Amino acid sequence: MPVANAQKPPPAWLMDGIGRVREGLSQIRQAVVPPNLTVFEMVQGSWLTQAMYVASKLGIFDALAGGPATADDIARRVGADPGATFRLMRALAGNSLLKQERDGRFALTRLGDALRSDAPGSMAPMLQFVGHPKHWEHWGQLLYSVQTGKTSAEMLRGMPVFEYLETDRDLAEVFNNAMTAVSAMAIETLMPAYDFSRFKTIVDVGGGHGALLAAVLQQATDAQGVLFDLPSVVAGAGSVLDAAGVSDRITVTGGSFFEAVPEGGDAYLLKTIIHDWDEDSALVILRNIRKAIDPAGTLALIEMVLPEGTAHHPGMLLDLEMLVAAGGQERTGAQYADLLARAGFRQTRVVSTAGPMSLVEAVPVHD
Ligand SMILES: C[S@@+](CC[C@H](N)C(=O)[O-])C[C@H]1O[C@@H](n2cnc3c(N)ncnc32)[C@H](O)[C@@H]1O
Repeated sequence: MPVANAQKPPPAWLMDGIGRVREGLSQIRQAVVPPNLTVFEMVQGSWLTQAMYVASKLGIFDALAGGPATADDIARRVGADPGATFRLMRALAGNSLLKQERDGRFALTRLGDALRSDAPGSMAPMLQFVGHPKHWEHWGQLLYSVQTGKTSAEMLRGMPVFEYLETDRDLAEVFNNAMTAVSAMAIETLMPAYDFSRFKTIVDVGGGHGALLAAVLQQATDAQGVLFDLPSVVAGAGSVLDAAGVSDRITVTGGSFFEAVPEGGDAYLLKTIIHDWDEDSALVILRNIRKAIDPAGTLALIEMVLPEGTAHHPGMLLDLEMLVAAGGQERTGAQYADLLARAGFRQTRVVSTAGPMSLVEAVPVHD
């Protein structure tokens, strides 16, 4: 899947300011509107997610790319029931994803347009994962995860989720495409926030299809890259690397980061890797990197670093995603510093971006 650039995000200070105003207005609303009404709206969140998923799965956002159309016309084009399609599209229009014109036809809004499969920075692949019946089932057993502290995915599939993905090509493809799409969003905000051009050999550990590494090498034009992930995953990386024009500077290596990682890099990137694993497994990965990294190298974890306390942050719900599926957790900056110290690294700084991701930078400690 090519990595398309979405609309350039505004600067971090503006995103921050808008976030604060939104938070303030939401608090005023919560103080004024009867609480049961507000809670009812929150409860409907899962219905909206599934409605968006179905529209995306059927190709309704794509079908509207050519211009407004009636629900009957769309139903015929996507092979669905006309009455039910109208009800779905009306619900999406009521939630700013579509709009209904005076003549009754539906059209894409700015938000619905971001769900076209070929929209720059499209969120369709992420929606295809979140709404996938099997993943939906994982969340349906959140109760089990909270009661036991274990992943519902393992309880339902009989093995840890990454092992399961090795056996289910359909879900694996949906998952890998989702990671690539979320990477595209994270990359947009990460690139202006951090200078990768000083590195010579950049190793992306658990780099999936290579979307992050491709963007980093486009910035670090003199650097070589190593893309490392499970063999079955890196096998699908070719089109992403080719589309970015960096294939000739990247070595693709398959293996497990629990065994060893490629040696000799002066930069090791791990984007949304450490959050997937429990404490002991995360330490094994980090210690393997500590063994492989150039003594003067830099480790960069790109994660949703949680704020201290309970301020609204998308990482808090992602933390529950880790609880039901992967078995890991999101961490605060202090928790990352502690984890890194136990693996032989010193955290040097946490760089925030205009999006929800931050970059945790660390260097190896020498005895
Ligand atoms: C949450 S995804 C992140 C992918 C990529 N870094 C990104 O941000 O798009 C986790 C990645 O870890 C990889 N992974 C899981 N177990 C692994 C292992 N034992 N060795 C290497 N990679 C592994 C998965 O295949 C997947 O690509």
